[in-house]
Amino acid sequence: MNIAVIGTGYVGLVTGAGFSEFGINVICVDKDVEKIARLERGELPIFEPGLDDIVQRNVAAGRLRFTTDARSAVQQSLVIFIAVPTPPQEDGSTDLSYVDEVARTIGEHLDGYKVVVTKSTVPVKTAERVRKGVVQAAQAAGKRSIRCSVASNPEFLREGSAVEDFLHPDRVVIGADDPEAVAILKDLYKPLNLIEVPFVITNVATAELIKYASNAFLATKISFINEISALCEAVGADVHHVSRAMGLDGRIGRKFLHPGPGYGGSCFPKDTLSLVQFSREFGVEQRIVAATVAANDAQRERMISKVEKMIGPVRGKTIGALGLSFKPNTDDVRESPAIWVIRELQKLGARIRCYDPEAMKTASRELSDVDFCEDAYDTAKGSDALLFLTEWNEFRKLDLVRLKELLRDPVVIDMRNVCEPAEMAQMGFRYTGVGR
Ligand code: UDX
Repeated sequence: MNIAVIGTGYVGLVTGAGFSEFGINVICVDKDVEKIARLERGELPIFEPGLDDIVQRNVAAGRLRFTTDARSAVQQSLVIFIAVPTPPQEDGSTDLSYVDEVARTIGEHLDGYKVVVTKSTVPVKTAERVRKGVVQAAQAAGKRSIRCSVASNPEFLREGSAVEDFLHPDRVVIGADDPEAVAILKDLYKPLNLIEVPFVITNVATAELIKYASNAFLATKISFINEISALCEAVGADVHHVSRAMGLDGRIGRKFLHPGPGYGGSCFPKDTLSLVQFSREFGVEQRIVAATVAANDAQRERMISKVEKMIGPVRGKTIGALGLSFKPNTDDVRESPAIWVIRELQKLGARIRCYDPEAMKTASRELSDVDFCEDAYDTAKGSDALLFLTEWNEFRKLDLVRLKELLRDPVVIDMRNVCEPAEMAQMGFRYTGVGR
């Protein structure tokens, strides 16, 4: 079977490469000529562990191809995945213009039965909009017999472990309103039957909503523990013990209860806002998710107060910042709390020295007037305080004696709880973490 994946961002590229790893012939399409040229040369536009390997292997095997030619990709494929960006607009609602454009392109080139699948995270009822877009474009192009199913197959890929998540998912959700599309999509995911991955087969609107409900719930867990972390600080409790004990209750689960500077990334901030927004369009309030968003904003602001509490007014101070990506193992800085914190400190008059193992290049497009450093030690050199903003593994094994010597003042503000408070105190640092 041939399939096409339109859009070669994180989701599209991992999805395309993942299906080719299943033995399916995949054509990845993008209108960005330069990006496709680079992919054809074997250069990946993103850093994602394991992706390089499966792309190279499947390109070499002839199962994975890249093109800007949407027409031939549509015509050669039975299934077409839409994996284009769905950025947030000013009011938090989702910009569907890229999705609409792809629907039009598919309609224009339709030459037989196709299953069109939304992979991008899109508000409920978008599949319906895609169907209309495809049909209208096909009719405008003078096509008479149009047979096309529209389905929703949301992704649950975490950056940094997206390949693993694709090949070994917790579940596969397929939302389609006709059995033919369901059968075709189940067939695509057949290799996952061998490892007994659960499938949730449902209608389109439900599949669309599952994605938002899942992400909003995870974001809520994070905001919940972040608010508890503030209370822990006020009463002298240890949030790590609280979250561990909570997580040992099987009904709660231990994941996503790690406190920090607030969630970031390309999904949670956007999806929570979008859920609140489109629910209202259906006359329903999402009070909990709205509070999750507000708590996340407050947590980020709390991080600035922490810095001020530790070093006084930041104007004129030099602050070393370790970590720029929104989480470890990615070079993605979209909605990164690290970038937000740095910008706020700059507004308050701080000079910033910073370092990230992978995200220096992406961060350089977002930040100005910062010194990008060689490594953590270089960052500490002459700084009045050192911040941990992303919990990269390499930050867990730093030589603390050396760090202390390099800092102008041995102050560490650990927004990811990378360090052990007792050890830091013993070594003579003035240290604060989150919630302990
Ligand atoms: C998320 C979802 O996990 C994934 O299923 C979805 O498809 C896309 O969005 P991702 O954005 O890659 O994935 O990152 P994730 O690992 O979920 O982390 C999101 C943010 O939450 C990060 O900023 C991370 O640092 C933060 N986080 C996560 C916490 O602060 N505490 C936690 O316990 C977990």
